[in-house]
Parts: sequence; structure tokens; C-alpha cells
Amino acid sequence: MTEQILYLSQKDVADAGLTMDRIIDTVEKGFVEMGNGRVEMPPKPGVHPGEGDNFIHAMPAYIPAMKSCGVKWVSGYPGNPEKGLPYINGLLIYNDPDTGMPLSVMDCTWITAMRTAAASAVSAKYLARPESATIGILACGVQGHTNLEAMNVLFPLKKVLAFDTKKDQADALAEYGQKTLGLDVEIVSDPRSAVTGCDIVVTSGPILKVPHATIKKDWVDEGSFVSCVDFDSFFSRNALAQADKWTTDNLAQYNHYKDHVGFFIDCPDIYAELGELVTGRKKGRETQTERTFAANLGLAMEDMAVCPLIFDLAKDKHLGTWLAL
Ligand SMILES: NC(=O)c1ccc[n+]([C@@H]2O[C@H](COP(=O)([O-])OP(=O)(O)OC[C@H]3O[C@@H](n4cnc5c(N)ncnc54)[C@H](O)[C@@H]3O)[C@@H](O)[C@H]2O)c1
Repeated sequence: MTEQILYLSQKDVADAGLTMDRIIDTVEKGFVEMGNGRVEMPPKPGVHPGEGDNFIHAMPAYIPAMKSCGVKWVSGYPGNPEKGLPYINGLLIYNDPDTGMPLSVMDCTWITAMRTAAASAVSAKYLARPESATIGILACGVQGHTNLEAMNVLFPLKKVLAFDTKKDQADALAEYGQKTLGLDVEIVSDPRSAVTGCDIVVTSGPILKVPHATIKKDWVDEGSFVSCVDFDSFFSRNALAQADKWTTDNLAQYNHYKDHVGFFIDCPDIYAELGELVTGRKKGRETQTERTFAANLGLAMEDMAVCPLIFDLAKDKHLGTWLAL
């Protein structure tokens, strides 16, 4: 018998219809597994073609409780938008853990966009004030959109302050926030206006080895939570020194980036991994005035937590193309 795999294009993956609330739920369950030491996930190796900040990473993981294993091969090329191509691209292979057989090859762009935002929201669940209503989004691209969507699932958001160096990007986020999510969105022309006065701040511009350090000391209010989707790129060291809790999704990966790649130089010490927060091993927010931060790096575990749900939905809806191995 010829074995087959299900190929799912980016459209197929999106059409499977997995909702953000389910993605947040499965990503949080994945972090419980990680926090309990039940996920196999080596730090991601990568290659860096060309000059500058291009990367292509291999991201394998195995989550026994979810009967999921596989690998994501994902690229990030900061120059791509100028060429009319997305910044993030790639493919994911989903394997059957019992036999090792590949079950599916699927586009990973949609999954990356959604699971990254879901991880921000899980961090915020433990580190932001539950009544958070005002959110600042600095950089209104794909992650700006999905992080807004995810935070809106968990928090009673009302007001969005959107900043981007490109007007059309801020306009697109404003339209999405207003029409799709029913939020009051204000586009601001200076970055500080999307930070000071916000309960939650998301920075989601390009990841740069030399931070542009736009956000200065005293811009982040006491009591705010910040999700640094673009690592430390947006923050001056003085601003980061005000963090009461500086957290990440995976310490081994964080230390690899810090010691061998050159990110997170002179950042505060890590207070907790997200797995420690969701399992209660470390406390999340403890006061109304703490400044809390998540610098989540993006984990293969998150992709492997999400892809079985997409595979099952896609099969139910007869999406995709079956291909012979
Ligand atoms: N941590 C993770 O798990 C994870 C996962 C996926 C993506 N990312 C990162 O998230 C970032 C955003 O990815 P994306 O897919 O949304 O990219 P995108 O190209 O869709 O959006 C990037 C946006 O940043 C804006 N921008 C650039 N420089 C800016 C500046 N100085 N100030 C304000 N806005 C600026 C651009 O105009 C654009 O709107 C990237 O750095 C990417 O590597 C992180």
C-alpha cells in the first residue's frame, strides 16, 4: 500500500477554521506539559543566509500527551516585505509518534502568526492585570494583528493605540480592530503614545541584533505588561532595567540566543519561564504596580500543540491534497 500525506496550503490551514480561543487553550496546555518536563524540544538550530538578520530555523518537538511530534522549517527575512513577500514563511511536517510516519506537510505561516500571539496571551494571563482595557501595539504587521486578536480573547479591551512607521500598516490594523473586533483604535504618530497609558503593550517590529531601542525609561507605566514579540529590539536598557519580572518561554533557548547569537545583551535576569508560571511553580503578577514583561522566543512545542487540531479539522472538512509518499 502506498502511504499518503495530507498537504495543506496556507489557505487550507486557515480554512480549517481553528479559532484563537482554542489555540490559546492548546498552547497553554502545551506549556503545562513543558513546565512538568514532559516535552522533548531541543534548542532550535538555524542557518543565516545573506547579510544581516535573515534566518531559517529547524524546530522539532514531541509532546507525548498530545500525541504530536514533528518539525517546523521557518524563515524570517526582514527584507522580504520590500519584495512583496511575507517576512515569515515555511513548512511544517507533522508525524505520527507511534510509527514516525509523516501524516501531513502544511504551510506554517498561519500557525506561526496565531500560536505566537496565543503565547503572548498566555503570558499576559499570568502577568497582566485582568482588567486591562487599553493596549498599545507598536508595529502593526501580522503579529500586531494576531496579538490584538489574542489579547482581545482574554481581556476586556476597549482602546487600542497603534503605532507603525508605515501608515498603511497602521491603517490596516485600525480597520481590523474597529470592524472585526469592535474596538476603539487610535493611530498615533509617536511611539511613546502607544506605550505610556497602556495596560498592555505589544512590540512586534523586526527582530534586530542591535536594538533600535525606541522605548525609553519611564515610558512603560507601573502595572503594565509588555509582550516583546520582537525580543529586546524596541527597548533601551534603561527602560528594561525597570522590569520587575522579565520572563521568557524557554530559558535554554534564551541563553543560547544571549550567549551565542547576540540578543538580550544587558537585559534583566530571567524571573521565570512560562511553563513555571502556568504550573504555579513561580508566581505571576503579585502587585498592581509591577512592570511585567514576556520575551517569548517562539517554540516548536507551540506548533506541535496546534498542528494536530488543524490536521483533524482539515480532514473533517475534506481540505487539502493527499499525496503519495
Ligand atoms: N517571538 C516569536 O515567537 C515570533 C514569532 C513570529 C514572529 N516574530 C517576530 O515578530 C516580528 C513581526 O513579525 P510579523 O510577521 O508581524 O512581520 P510584519 O512584516 O508583518 O510586520 C512588521 C511591522 O513592523 C513595522 N515596523 C518596522 N520597523 C518599525 C519600527 N521601528 N517601529 C514601528 N514599526 C516598525 C513594519 O512597518 C511592519 O508593519 C518579527 O520580528 C518576527 O521575527 C516573533
